Amino acid sequence: MGVKAVILAAGKGTRMKSEIPKVLHEAAGRPLISWMLETLVKAAVEQTAVVVGYRADDVIARLPEDVVVVRQDEQLGTGHAAAVGVAGLELDDDDIVLVLPGDMPLITPETVSDLIDTHRAAGAAATLLTVHAPDPHGYGRVVRDHDGMVDAIVEHGDATPEQLAIDEVNTSVYAFSAASLGVVLDRIEPHNVQGEYYLTDVIALLTGAGERVAAMATQPAEGTGVNSHDQLAEAAAALRRRINRRWMTEGVAMIDPDRVYLDAGVELAPGVTIHPDTHVTGSSVIGSGTALGPSTFIEDSNIGSDCRIWYSVLRSVEIASGVTVGPYASLRPGTRLAEGAKAGTFVEIKATEVGPGSKVPHLSYIGDASIGEGANIGAGTITANYDGYEKHRTIIGDRVKIGCDNVLVAPVELGDDAWTAAGSVISRDVSPGALGVARSHQKEIEGYAERRRNRAKEKDPQ
Ligand code: UD1
Ligand code: CA
Repeated sequence: MGVKAVILAAGKGTRMKSEIPKVLHEAAGRPLISWMLETLVKAAVEQTAVVVGYRADDVIARLPEDVVVVRQDEQLGTGHAAAVGVAGLELDDDDIVLVLPGDMPLITPETVSDLIDTHRAAGAAATLLTVHAPDPHGYGRVVRDHDGMVDAIVEHGDATPEQLAIDEVNTSVYAFSAASLGVVLDRIEPHNVQGEYYLTDVIALLTGAGERVAAMATQPAEGTGVNSHDQLAEAAAALRRRINRRWMTEGVAMIDPDRVYLDAGVELAPGVTIHPDTHVTGSSVIGSGTALGPSTFIEDSNIGSDCRIWYSVLRSVEIASGVTVGPYASLRPGTRLAEGAKAGTFVEIKATEVGPGSKVPHLSYIGDASIGEGANIGAGTITANYDGYEKHRTIIGDRVKIGCDNVLVAPVELGDDAWTAAGSVISRDVSPGALGVARSHQKEIEGYAERRRNRAKEKDPQ
């Protein structure tokens, strides 16, 4: 008596007005289809078939290896899609088959488990997940008989005025007894306004054959699908609220949770504080005591504990503990800041290791470099790492002090304890402990101001 599932995901999603298949649109950092797959894993579903059609290869590329992929080459309707999907499962007669749409990211594992339990307890051939919709327009209406048992689902376009007044609608999530579903799936006919094979018709076919159909109502928030960008944004906001609530329960502080954007795959330690307009995306991991934001974007990065990161953009970087970043820093892929390091205001760093306690405090571009321990990079330092053809590395030793407004023309190496003078263009290596100066000496021209004044007077005696 196992539980298996079919996810219907072959449709284009016309109302998204997008070339991207609907189920690949993302909410909180994950495609819609992945939210449904994760829910099924958590609800302990044993085998899942995903029915793909529109841009099938794009969808398949985002699916985990252990799902069964079934192609529906022509989208002839949800009934046809379900039949194609069921054919891909290894089913026993006493199994339960869930059928679900790929575009319903808010359904929870608890609701799926409740549906399975309700189905078992009712001893029904099918159990529908329904909602009492504030606005049932467009949905299939759940028609019940005099005893309150489900009789049929009637699609909006095929409903009578009395049926249109019903507010209980089909969510497109069903639990079926495998044997019963197998008998009726082949008997659906496309006699309706859209000329499609409707999965919803199996309900009347089952009740017509004297089988019982039960229903379980859930909250509209969980049972609504995504058909448009408007609904996608609403679903994403609901998922974010869930994610944020969970992290706050785990000890993360949020100054204004409505303005915190965490992807599903992010990991936060207790004691993290997040200020408004902060996005933490991909597989980022943040250590305890670290404060993020305001106005910060972090993607696929590892950040240690007790860091302060504000008004900054960090992508694919590794940051140890006690590091300060920003305001207004851009840390690009391959940046590694060791313990106690600093990347300050208007600083861009790329593919560079900054050693423990070393500081790049102001207005610098450091690319393809390695900086040792305890070094200080003066304001306005630029690594000229690109000669127009190739990238070259800059090596900066321990305790090096770079003066303000330097250009370090790579490849170049500054030994431990080296200094450079302000305003230098350093194009040759500097030995350990030495001072590199590469600028013209200052001259003094006496009486200059007076000569200029006299010259101006000669031109215009007034
Ligand atoms: C369907 C239900 C309706 C329910 C509503 C809930 C039918 C006939 N109607 O309507 O009762 O209230 O969902 O949102 O089932 N799909 C395929 N192959 C196809 C057709 C559809 O895989 O040939 C997939 C779509 O990609 C989608 C799902 O099935 O994920 C639902 O199809 P959709 O066309 O959105 O059905 P609705 O008209 O919304
Ligand atoms: Ca739909």
